[in-house]
Amino acid sequence: MDINKENYELGLPVIEKAGVAHKIDFREGPALPVVDQMIEDGKYHGTFDFIFVDADKDNYINYHKRLIDLVKVGGVIGYDNTLWNGSVVAPPDAPMRKYVRYYTDFVLELNKALVADPRIEICMLPGAYFIFEDADKDNYINYHKRLIDLVKVGRVIGYDNTLWNGAVVAPPDDAPMRKYVRVWRIAAEVVEAEGNCADTKFSRSV
Ligand SMILES: C[S@@+](CC[C@H](N)C(=O)[O-])C[C@H]1O[C@@H](n2cnc3c(N)ncnc32)[C@H](O)[C@@H]1O
Repeated sequence: MDINKENYELGLPVIEKAGVAHKIDFREGPALPVVDQMIEDGKYHGTFDFIFVDADKDNYINYHKRLIDLVKVGGVIGYDNTLWNGSVVAPPDAPMRKYVRYYTDFVLELNKALVADPRIEICMLPGAYFIFEDADKDNYINYHKRLIDLVKVGRVIGYDNTLWNGAVVAPPDDAPMRKYVRVWRIAAEVVEAEGNCADTKFSRSV
């Protein structure tokens, strides 16, 4: 969703090159009414693994109130720049650009609401952008070996479900689990072991 289709079109060649254009359902316009429509539809409730919000910060709190309905239990909602250029901890008289000052209170309001929200766990990622990997888990380690080259120093690679439904700590062969869970638990173990290597810091989140 974006109020400006040109921004979407700017990124489209990259999306096409990645071969994922068929997965994008772009909606032009203010996001709130689109989100409201999705909630009203009913069919999107609890369906999103991952939602990323990087638009009008004076509406972040309104997005949160709605997106919590749309994200899966255990899913992730990412809010861009919740430190808002450091302004959320700056003294009131600190020099800052007008637009930064304008949005500061809105970002603070969101942060306070997130802290008080018992439905979520919070994690601050040390970078604006990151790589999120949630595909064939038997290749996670191969992705990791390559992605470490692509990610910026200090930024984040997220691997989905490295507890792998709890299978990584289940007894070796006799714990009841679905076949695909058993097959891929080795992959999750390898990422835990090898992902925690010299060039990465490891942290577990939601
Ligand atoms: C800082 S840019 C981020 C875009 C993208 N995440 C990126 O990093 O390339 C913010 C985007 O939000 C869009 N935007 C602003 N207000 C919006 C709204 N009310 N609804 C939907 N999109 C909006 C802008 O057009 C712009 O493309």
